[in-house]
Amino acid sequence: MGNYVIRGGRVIDPAAGLDRPLDLVIEGGRLKALAEPGTAMPSAGFEVIDAAGLVVTPGFIDLHAHLREPGHEHKETIATGTRAAARGGFTTVCAMPNTDPPIDTPERVAYVYQRARETGVIRVLPIACVSRGQAGQELTDLVELAGAGAFGFSDDGRPVYDGRLMRRALEYGLLTGRPVIDHCEEPGLAEGASVNEGPVAGRLGLRGMPAAAEEIPVARNIALAELTGGWVHLAHLSARGSVELVRAAKRRGVRVTAEVCPHHLALTDRWLLGAEGNAHPPVGTVPIPESLGPYDTRTKVNPPLRTWSDCLALIEGVRDGTIDVIATDHAPHHWLDKACEYGQAAFGISGLETAFGLLMTLVHADLLDLTTLVGRLTAGPGRILEEAGFRVPYTFRPGEPVDLVVLDPDVTWVVRPEEFVSLGKNTPLEGVTLRGRVLLTIFDGKVVFDGRGLRA
Ligand code: DOR
Repeated sequence: MGNYVIRGGRVIDPAAGLDRPLDLVIEGGRLKALAEPGTAMPSAGFEVIDAAGLVVTPGFIDLHAHLREPGHEHKETIATGTRAAARGGFTTVCAMPNTDPPIDTPERVAYVYQRARETGVIRVLPIACVSRGQAGQELTDLVELAGAGAFGFSDDGRPVYDGRLMRRALEYGLLTGRPVIDHCEEPGLAEGASVNEGPVAGRLGLRGMPAAAEEIPVARNIALAELTGGWVHLAHLSARGSVELVRAAKRRGVRVTAEVCPHHLALTDRWLLGAEGNAHPPVGTVPIPESLGPYDTRTKVNPPLRTWSDCLALIEGVRDGTIDVIATDHAPHHWLDKACEYGQAAFGISGLETAFGLLMTLVHADLLDLTTLVGRLTAGPGRILEEAGFRVPYTFRPGEPVDLVVLDPDVTWVVRPEEFVSLGKNTPLEGVTLRGRVLLTIFDGKVVFDGRGLRA
């Protein structure tokens, strides 16, 4: 357990309404004091961390990541995934249950906790399946799974396409106080499609899924949450219409929360054209790297990268609070899963280690302010966990264990997947220069990532 004085950083703690230079004193892993800058005098046994010119925030919380254990350890393990998370500034990660076997029994929930204790470096909260084997037929025992510590219930990777099953899940979910998290996809409209439906798909000759494939289940889920009073959390929203539906539902008081991913905020489907796409703007907040060719399977993600109009609507949703959370949907894959033709490749982007840098492109483009961004990575997901009965630090509270990150919002760096700690090197951002990086991560009062040497 560490003793640290973190000096002179700009402390951004949205839940506490804090945004000013302060010193943090951590003793025995707990926050002892937030002091005026320069007033915290270190005594013997304290390590001084100079955060002048840097930003200090509560640790990031990711409500949506694929850690792949058990069963897909060639893609990621809890050991590598949690280290990748720490490198990305995350101190809590919720693990999706589309593993092999899927997490659909209390024993399997316990297994994820056990592996996290044995091999992880940060907090892992398992999410359990909605349906047995994620087969979409028979409901799991939500109450038992919640008793074993599942944060919520999801068949992510697939939708809960049967409305009756969703209705029952929301009703049983009510008994647990935990959310049903849906991957919103209308199977008939999305079948066989790997990209956004539109001119880019047409040009490349790839089958597209229309935004309506997401908007229809979003509307259905909202209607069912209204019917049952249950809590639905909408995963990785990507379409303008979805944001509008959630905004209207929240105004009516429906129990709906929602998340978006960094790649859906910052990148458009022009990335599928490769570097040539730069001639057909808008490509997003990052130019497409020269090394990216057309049909590069690293751009393949579900839901797909959409249009700039969708990006702007998602960003507006983040700004006005319609979107509660930014989550990575970290989806590491083995290179062989992507080394094939576009239509056959696995969906997913390895996102934990680039999330903050990619999100900072929105801040540098004046589309989002840093405090709101930090809020959607800390207080937003933290309050959702709290509502579900999990007390995870998302704000600096004196006397409590500290989860914290030190960020450099201005340092530039080049994305090199071979340097990722994650086993998943699958990112279209290879070779991209980002501005903004995580320099230090403290979990439960201990340093779990120290990249301060990266600042030079
Ligand atoms: O791109 C994705 N990858 N979207 C999903 O919904 C699932 C995920 C995965 O498990 O690889």
